[in-house]
Amino acid sequence: MVWYQGTVPPEPGSSFPPEAYSKERVIDIHSHILPGVDDGAETIEQAVEMVRMAAENGTTDIVATPHANTEFPFDPETVERKASELAAACGGALRIHTGCDFHLTVDNIQDALSNPGKYTINRGRYLLVELSDRLVPTTTDEVFRRMLAAGIIPVVTHPERNRRLHRRLDRVEKWVAEGSCVQITGDSLSGRFGKTARAVATELMERGLVHFVASDAHGTRDRKPVLKAAFEQVAEAYGEDYARLLFCDNPKAAIEAAPVLAAKAEPAPGRKWYQFWRRPARQAKTS
Ligand SMILES: [Fe+2]
Repeated sequence: MVWYQGTVPPEPGSSFPPEAYSKERVIDIHSHILPGVDDGAETIEQAVEMVRMAAENGTTDIVATPHANTEFPFDPETVERKASELAAACGGALRIHTGCDFHLTVDNIQDALSNPGKYTINRGRYLLVELSDRLVPTTTDEVFRRMLAAGIIPVVTHPERNRRLHRRLDRVEKWVAEGSCVQITGDSLSGRFGKTARAVATELMERGLVHFVASDAHGTRDRKPVLKAAFEQVAEAYGEDYARLLFCDNPKAAIEAAPVLAAKAEPAPGRKWYQFWRRPARQAKTS
């Protein structure tokens, strides 16, 4: 499959969806695209530019997931309002959904367990959870179990970028076995976050522990809302079906609160460059 070809976003006021968007839905479930709510987009103009950038690179849907932590309080009504304002400003260039980049503070955990739909993607079942890279306490296991019992499916965001988990993928494996999901960052595959992050992302995919790839976009210059290169990389290494699972099918299930699938990435034969990509994974195990 060639990467799904999006079109240049329509002019404001034109109808959505354009016919060219009719086949695959490339859904980015993690972005800081709403202006003025966290460390992502600062202005509505920047947010609109992020939307246009995503659409021009084939993304059809994006989930706005502002942080919820002690620095950035999360208000679902504000998030809904800003998402609507952004959608209107973009003339329907993308479908914009809402969610949260949830941090495991004591107050947050209690609030989420009491209000399961407050922080989840489209107020459904999937909750992005960002773990601290200073400490991932053993109580995290119990927190995830309590969330699952409350009908919330934790989605551990970018564990490949968390140095506390690099040598503890057994913990990630256990969380997935118990019902949680995993999202890796697209730019981790290019090496943007270093060799170890790339290696760990690779290992997670090959162990069948990845459900989603998302951008975790914060702007238009550095951490962009673009998944195209990562999709092509995954498709070339592991085949188009596997890439569709992580970029299209599972994200679609998440925004619809439907079950997702996990699969082990099987390296495509005869990809010489893939050996180069794989090499850091072996180094990571001994570092
Ligand atoms: Fe994030």
